[in-house]
Amino acid sequence: VAVHVINGPNLNLLGVREPQTYGSMTLAAIEQRLVEFGARLGAEVVCRQSNVEGELVGFIHEAGLAGAGIILNAAAYTHTSIALRDAIKAVDAVAIEVHLSNVHAREAFRHHSTIAPVCAGVICGFGAVSYELALDAIVRILRQRQG
Ligand code: DQA
Repeated sequence: VAVHVINGPNLNLLGVREPQTYGSMTLAAIEQRLVEFGARLGAEVVCRQSNVEGELVGFIHEAGLAGAGIILNAAAYTHTSIALRDAIKAVDAVAIEVHLSNVHAREAFRHHSTIAPVCAGVICGFGAVSYELALDAIVRILRQRQG
């Protein structure tokens, strides 16, 4: 199975960006760990990041059309983007929404996700581990689908 890990705006700054909220690991370190964890699970992991909404739409299309699962941290676009939600639907992708922080313990504007309704589930609040939990879950879903 293949899984694309797609990160949205400002997540390229992980490690230096608000470490009290998002932790001290860089995105490169998180991605490296995911590739290694994926290998142990027998999954190919491809990692992408963009600060541009339209590029994220393209990444979602690419993953979905290739039949890969998607782990998506859309960052602030989570709370605003109909385009990302529609992209997941458009390619009928299996997706899991993730966040490093517990968005429900934060400002009210972070409590709503436009994307969650088209995802298999949402994992938030476990820092970098959120991505690993999502990888474990999506590999199980993709394998179950393969039958
Ligand atoms: C985030 C939470 C979002 O509300 C925020 O805009 C981010 C990061 C997280 O991973 O905790 O940029 O997606």
